[in-house]
Amino acid sequence: METSLKNKKILITAGPTREYIDPVRFISNESSGKMGYAIAEALHQMGADVILISGPVSITSSFPKNKIVSVMSGNQMYEACQKHFENIDVAIFCAAVADYKAKNTSVIKIKKIENETTLELEKNVDIAFEFGKVKTENQKSVGFALETNNIHENAVDKLKKKNFDLIVVNSPNVNEGFGYDTNKITIVDKNLSLFSFPLKNKKEVALDILTHLKNSYNIIEEE
Ligand code: C5P
Repeated sequence: METSLKNKKILITAGPTREYIDPVRFISNESSGKMGYAIAEALHQMGADVILISGPVSITSSFPKNKIVSVMSGNQMYEACQKHFENIDVAIFCAAVADYKAKNTSVIKIKKIENETTLELEKNVDIAFEFGKVKTENQKSVGFALETNNIHENAVDKLKKKNFDLIVVNSPNVNEGFGYDTNKITIVDKNLSLFSFPLKNKKEVALDILTHLKNSYNIIEEE
């Protein structure tokens, strides 16, 4: 078994979040969690001490259930992450956290009205950005960006804004990104160098990302 990440503490977020409006309605997105779980499985196989903070997903995985912290909302995901920020070597932000949440939520089901209505939204917490502010020299972080246009400019902006060491870019094309078993990625690093990969299954993509991370930032167990 490859144990190159033995003794490394790695946090990974995966899946979507759900921002409830009332007990039966919520804002969410199409994230399946497959990419995040594939990375978590690969990390576990490499001997890392992995904490997987997962939004609601329905996938079968070989990743140990007792290492999964299940959450619903972006705020819950942030709180779960915060408990570990200080002690981790690497954070991998793979979750598709909902950008907005309802400004006011109702504990009872909101009644349907005849005419149009307005739902006020407010920005959700940006977990990766918050970690980017507090992370130390020795801590590394990896972000993801799903972009439909100006792909590389947007990815570079996010890398800088959220203080990532690597950003993995994908697009919502057929067979890539949300829900599929395959993904086609480009990795951008701190030097803004681009590395493009062909379409692969998410298990192979996970290995490409982790190999790149280990080689770029020398994240291996010290003898
Ligand atoms: O949604 P966005 O494109 O800004 O996501 C870029 C990166 O930031 C992803 O790695 C995502 O997991 C992370 N993110 C986060 N919290 C948010 C939004 C995004 O951690 N509220």
